[in-house]
Amino acid sequence: MLAAPWPAKTHSTPAAAQQSGRKRHHGTILPVEEYDRVVASLRQAYGPDAAAKRDGREKEAFKVDERRRFLNLLQDRAATSLLEVGAGTGHDSLYFQEQGLRVLCTDLSPAMVELCRAKGLDARVADFLGLGVPPASFDAVYALNCLLHVPTPDLQRVLEAIGEVLVPGGLLYVGTWGGADKEGLMQDDHHPVPRFFAFRSDRLMREMLAERFHVLSFTTFDPEGNHFQSFVLEKPGKALP
Ligand SMILES: C[S@@+](CC[C@H](N)C(=O)[O-])C[C@H]1O[C@@H](n2cnc3c(N)ncnc32)[C@H](O)[C@@H]1O
Repeated sequence: MLAAPWPAKTHSTPAAAQQSGRKRHHGTILPVEEYDRVVASLRQAYGPDAAAKRDGREKEAFKVDERRRFLNLLQDRAATSLLEVGAGTGHDSLYFQEQGLRVLCTDLSPAMVELCRAKGLDARVADFLGLGVPPASFDAVYALNCLLHVPTPDLQRVLEAIGEVLVPGGLLYVGTWGGADKEGLMQDDHHPVPRFFAFRSDRLMREMLAERFHVLSFTTFDPEGNHFQSFVLEKPGKALP
């Protein structure tokens, strides 16, 4: 169950949000420091213990299928480079690297990044909003179950930052748990501090992604009663060959 979002006193008014230059999308506009608070608590939640536990988990079959499907598309388009954001322990990055792609993985958790490096991956600690790579430097970006940690009012600027590192015509995979529009802290979370989740409806997620990318495919499935949204997106511009 989700707890109430951050305390109401930290929410800014729409006027304050306008002053801060933030674009309004849905719901309450959170002040800039709100995003930073979410990130700080997630870094704690994904510390060394949680990272080690996640590293030992077997990947669900549907996620294995998802990355294979994306790889096929990358190969069809002769893509050679991939950035994984919110890479976690780097299992997917390792798969793409073993298939011949030049891979960089990024995550906000130093513990996760350490595990990625231990697998021989080029990895760095980086927030979605500070990826630290040159514009248009990757053919593809992979984002699995990480954008669900971005508050909805911040999602467009995160998508903008991700879009910036893609070449025109580059491909973005977004796979995420969703369903009803609901966000806040996960009560009874099994991580050391409760994590912030933003679950979004199919309609909202599609609308927000379509503001910046062409939607090449959108599929949903419901493993074990949870709702998973899978998008393959293309950055507008000249398509990859
Ligand atoms: C649920 S885990 C998923 C990890 C991996 N993609 C997977 O599917 O196994 C979410 C990951 O996103 C990272 N993350 C969350 N918010 C982030 C942010 N603002 N910038 C970069 N990474 C973030 C977390 O540190 C965590 O490793």
